[in-house]
Amino acid sequence: MQTSIVTEKLFIDGKWIETSNTHKVYNKFTGELFSEICVADELRINQAVEAAVHAHKHTQFPADFRYQVLMKTAELLLQDVDALAEIIAKEGGKPITDAKAEVRRSASTLQIAADEAKKLVGEIIPNYNVQGRFLYTIKKPVGVVAAITPFNFPLNLVVHKVAPALAAGNPVILKPASDTATIAIKLCELLEQAGVPKGYLHCVIGSGGTVGEQLLNDERISHYTFTGSPAVGKHIQKTIGLRKATLELGSNSATIVHGDADISKAAAKLAKMAFAHAGQICISVQRIFVQNSVKEKFLELFLNEVSRLKVGDPLDPETVVGPMISVKEAKRIEQWVEEAASAGAEILTGGKREGSIYYPTVITNIKKGMKVADEEAFAPVVTVTTYETLEEAIELVNDSKYGLQAGIYTSDLSLSYKIPYLLEVGGVVINDTCCFRTDQMPYGGVKESGNGKEGPAYAIQELVETVTVVVNLED
Ligand code: SIN
Repeated sequence: MQTSIVTEKLFIDGKWIETSNTHKVYNKFTGELFSEICVADELRINQAVEAAVHAHKHTQFPADFRYQVLMKTAELLLQDVDALAEIIAKEGGKPITDAKAEVRRSASTLQIAADEAKKLVGEIIPNYNVQGRFLYTIKKPVGVVAAITPFNFPLNLVVHKVAPALAAGNPVILKPASDTATIAIKLCELLEQAGVPKGYLHCVIGSGGTVGEQLLNDERISHYTFTGSPAVGKHIQKTIGLRKATLELGSNSATIVHGDADISKAAAKLAKMAFAHAGQICISVQRIFVQNSVKEKFLELFLNEVSRLKVGDPLDPETVVGPMISVKEAKRIEQWVEEAASAGAEILTGGKREGSIYYPTVITNIKKGMKVADEEAFAPVVTVTTYETLEEAIELVNDSKYGLQAGIYTSDLSLSYKIPYLLEVGGVVINDTCCFRTDQMPYGGVKESGNGKEGPAYAIQELVETVTVVVNLED
């Protein structure tokens, strides 16, 4: 464990490189300096892309070796859960219990991706209309992949992008969120230790958007995989032209509490999943729609659960709601809530800020146009709105520019057949909140929530090219 401030280096072409320009990473709870990260300039980025292209063309990285490297990295992560989680808690502000869970999930994601490396097969295409031709497909790595990752799951979302790219046999250039880059660099150290071949992994940290722009404009990069805001996602897609991107762009996710549901179970879980990691999860519960007949019971139970959530120091194992990523972000949500209140919203609890901590906030009397409901809050804020009929609830969920996941609590399991066809989202969770994810499942949204799917088996399909082979057996 760190005792003094360290300077983390860039990882380019199998070497750790120190630069004079650094980015300071702070402890998000105490505000103390946590680490300094070397920042890449144009020359270094170019070096990384060149080395990645060279590795793609000239360095063998067969599937069984890809499997071994990813499995070994998972093993190394599991040997150091506590220390790695402490980095996530300090630089990311994530409560330590959740940070430990993230490290374990990351190991599992690596193992799932490792298995996928061995399953990359093409198929024989039945040929019933042209004599003497044998048709089949092969799956080829797409080429150099750029992975641009967010702060909120600074380890597992890096793994979700890097591991499938490597599993598919592609070199990766990773640009992690600068404010939580220490943990991404630790992952690169472990991948290096596990034997990732020179040129297949590069980690470059930016400052002020220039690194990202250079990566987007470099035609030698074949695929981009990004988690972040719709504005940046759209910019990526516009800049890269016909090249492909997997874009996971967040949401204002909703969960319906239908009148026939187990209300106390729903209230307890929703309270946790609206405020876990201070709401900074793409599928965080941001909008709750509760059937009018159970509104009072639900609100009583829900507010009671919210009042019991421990807010504060992320290193305390009891803490559920830690700081937001910055004071600036906490002030941003404070302003959104104040705006909603002046437009007639009622704040049932919370609405209070102390530095980067924003207290769990529950709001009702929501109207169209209020940012707290219409935009992605990415903060510990949830709105509660009532409805009469299920049709109305579905309309309310769909009345959003986003569509990542939605949840519904109901005792009528026949709805699990019907509801997924009606909701405009990439994933539907029955009898749990919209904030459910396990790492093997396909994960990705529709509308402004992006395109493409994460989850190693699905991500990998976007990271290989299907090449058709036609063999003329006759003339
Ligand atoms: C995300 O915020 O998109 C990731 C959610 C998760 O992996 O649980």
